[in-house]
Parts: sequence; C-alpha cells; structure tokens
Amino acid sequence: MTGAASGIGKATALLLARHGAKVHLVDIAADRLIEVADLVRAEGGEPVTHVVDVSDPAAMAELADAVFAGDAAVDLLHNNAGIGVGGRFIDLTLDDIQRTVGVNLLGTMYGLHYFLPRMRKQGRRGHIVNTASGAGLVPIPLLGTYSAAKHGVVALTEALHAEHADGQVGFSVVCPGVIDTPILRNSPQRGGLVDVDLIDRLAKRFAASPESVAEAVWDAYARRKVVVVVAPLFVTPAWWLRRLSPRAAQFGSRLTAVALEQVLGGAAERAGKKVNA
Ligand code: NAI
Repeated sequence: MTGAASGIGKATALLLARHGAKVHLVDIAADRLIEVADLVRAEGGEPVTHVVDVSDPAAMAELADAVFAGDAAVDLLHNNAGIGVGGRFIDLTLDDIQRTVGVNLLGTMYGLHYFLPRMRKQGRRGHIVNTASGAGLVPIPLLGTYSAAKHGVVALTEALHAEHADGQVGFSVVCPGVIDTPILRNSPQRGGLVDVDLIDRLAKRFAASPESVAEAVWDAYARRKVVVVVAPLFVTPAWWLRRLSPRAAQFGSRLTAVALEQVLGGAAERAGKKVNA
C-alpha cells in the first residue's frame, strides 16, 4: 500500500491489520511509516516498511522486487499515495505540474507497471485498488492539474478492468469526496487566492473520515466493485449532472469557479495574507 504513513493509507493499513494481513507500508515519509508500523502490529497485522518515492520508476521497480522476493503473491495492491496543489492552472509552476502528475498519475502507473505482470502470474487471484478522487469524476476549478491526474487514474482503472476480463486480477478505483486528512492543509495554494485556514475549517465541518474510505477500499476488494464513490455529497450530484448534460455541468463548473474565488479568495483577502504563494 502506497501513501501508508498518513490519512486514508494509514486507516486502510489498520483495517487490513485487523483482518490479520501482512501489510507492506510504502511511503516517502520514513518517520511516520515507523509509527504506522507500530500501530499495525498492535492491531494484529504484520508490517513491512518501504521508504519509496512512487514518482521514481526505479524505486518502484525495486519495491516490486523486494515485495515478491519475500512473498509469493500480493492479494491487494493499493496505489494510494497522492499530493494536491490548489490555484488556477495559470499560477502553477512547472514543478507543481510535474510533481502532481508524477505522484498521482505516474506513481499509480508505475505501481501497475511493476506489480500487475507478477500478480497475473502468481497463481491466485489478486486485486488492485487505485485511489483517485471525486475530482477524477468531475473537473474541479482551482484543482485543474490534480483533477486531470485523477481523471487519468479513473480512466486507466476502467480500461484495465476491460482489458483483464479473465478476472485473474480485479481493478477498482475509489473516488472520495472531502476527507479529513492532512493533504488539505499540506497542499500548496498558488496565486494567493485561497485561504488554507478556511479550507481547513470547512473540511473539518463537512469532511468524512479516512476510516470510511478504508471501509470502501475493503468493500471494493471483497466485492470487486469497479468505481466506488465515498462521501458522495460533493461528488455524486455533479457526476450525474455531467453524464446527463455535459453543457449544464460546464455551466455549473463556471459558477463553482466564481463561488470558490469569492468565498476562498475573499477569506484570504480579509485575512490580509497571500497563502503559500
Ligand atoms: P495524506 O496527505 O494524509 O496522505 C498521503 C500520503 O502519501 C502521505 O503519507 C505522504 O507522505 C504520501 N506521499 C506523498 N507523496 C509521496 C510520494 N512521492 N511517494 C510516496 N508517498 C508519498 O492524504 P490522504 O488524504 O490520505 O490521501 C490519500 C489519497 O487520497 C491521495 O491519492 C489523495 O489524492 C486521495 N484523496 C484524498 C481526499 C481528501 O479529501 N483527503 C479526497 C480525494 C482523494
């Protein structure tokens, strides 16, 4: 499981531990990985830690080698590591764009590239769950690059599901709405439009728990669901509208952009600060 040292990954690791699983905890943050490993052990699981940057293909190749050197099979691969960046696309740096796509989309692709062929040959069924986002089903203004990367994760998962009809390996994509994890506060906000404190306060009020996403990951694995929406309040109505009437959805998206800039931008101005610009 990638992105295991925090938020959704940590909650999923602990849930898997309660099912008695051996869990390979993968993250770039070494210190937090050790803390999660202790918790996994306390819950009855067997942790193995790997400090890996998922956006580095050589490191992902080594990870797959290490996992399959110790274990004959992977029952569940969870490509979950992710980062965010907020602001209009025009205000993003090239580094923002490359990192966001590199971790969220390419990181997922590297996981698939190095694990899938082995999982197909491991002699028992496996399952792969990719964490996308509601922003992977509906384009979100001020999150365009993140949204594009997550749309890629959804599209790829559905294509893989179609390509692997023999069921040797199953594929799911989990699309959470707003979840109370550190990613919201840690994502840089470009262009000085957005007040991070306000995002934090709104998130605390409306967000669902990382444990609810962990349950959805387990459910996707156990029941082999393909697209799973969690915390649907901010996702499902817009997703349905987009499918029923793309033009109406585009209009709604413009209204959302204006509203976000008014609410979040106004708050940043009142606070008299440019945030993480
Ligand atoms: P989080 O910030 O709590 O956890 C993300 C983890 O990924 C962190 O431990 C971080 O160190 C790790 N990570 C970041 N870059 C990495 C890299 N290059 N290599 C390896 N590990 C790396 O955030 P959260 O919310 O648990 O995010 C998990 C996934 O859920 C992400 O893919 C995120 O995009 C997605 N998501 C989160 C939502 C939310 O509202 N929290 C909503 C929709 C999707």
